[in-house]
Amino acid sequence: MACETQQARAAGPEAIDPRRFRDACARFGTGVTVVTTHCDGNDHGMTANAFMSISLSPPLIAISIAATARILPKIRKTGCFAVSVLSEGMEDIAWHFAGKPRAQAQDCLRCDIRPAAVAGSAASFVADVTSEIIAGDHVVFIGEVRQLASDPGGRPLLFFGGRFGALAETPAMQLSIDYQDHGMFW
Ligand SMILES: Cc1cc2nc3c(=O)[nH]c(=O)nc-3n(C[C@H](O)[C@H](O)[C@H](O)COP(=O)(O)O)c2cc1C
Repeated sequence: MACETQQARAAGPEAIDPRRFRDACARFGTGVTVVTTHCDGNDHGMTANAFMSISLSPPLIAISIAATARILPKIRKTGCFAVSVLSEGMEDIAWHFAGKPRAQAQDCLRCDIRPAAVAGSAASFVADVTSEIIAGDHVVFIGEVRQLASDPGGRPLLFFGGRFGALAETPAMQLSIDYQDHGMFW
């Protein structure tokens, strides 16, 4: 393992094999979100796990969108996006917005808010784009949150090693209690 790391460093970034890079990134477990925007009278969504919180004050979040993704020009046009953190069991919705349509996920967006968010999501954020960074074959959007909702008991859909999963019951529940006791937000 140490040897493999050294080899990758010695060879430099040019020599990083895309397959190995993807496999290494897949060792990082994440939640799963659906990024939405409302453009020209329609809602558009895309599944994304490249989501992170950036700053508490002001409240900033970031998403990374492939340069080829259909939602990219729409976010640029509207200057606004929503992020819905998918709940446990929402695999169909994740596939639906990842180019694999599912009939049961067709009406999953709550259209009473704009941009629409996924109904029953563990949390959702609406943000105005504050900056855009072109990063290789992706574009990173940083947005200032102007509206949010979260379900305190919500349990997330997880993504790890190319597969969807769920939290194990006891350790995760205990961890969240410990963080609250220490007054930590994240
Ligand atoms: C779990 C998961 C996470 C994904 N994360 C991202 C992401 O963060 N950014 C991205 O550009 N595409 C991501 N994708 C791929 C897009 O959802 C997929 O390519 C989608 O079909 C692109 O939208 P389009 O077909 O409307 O262009 C992810 C797919 C899955 C299944």
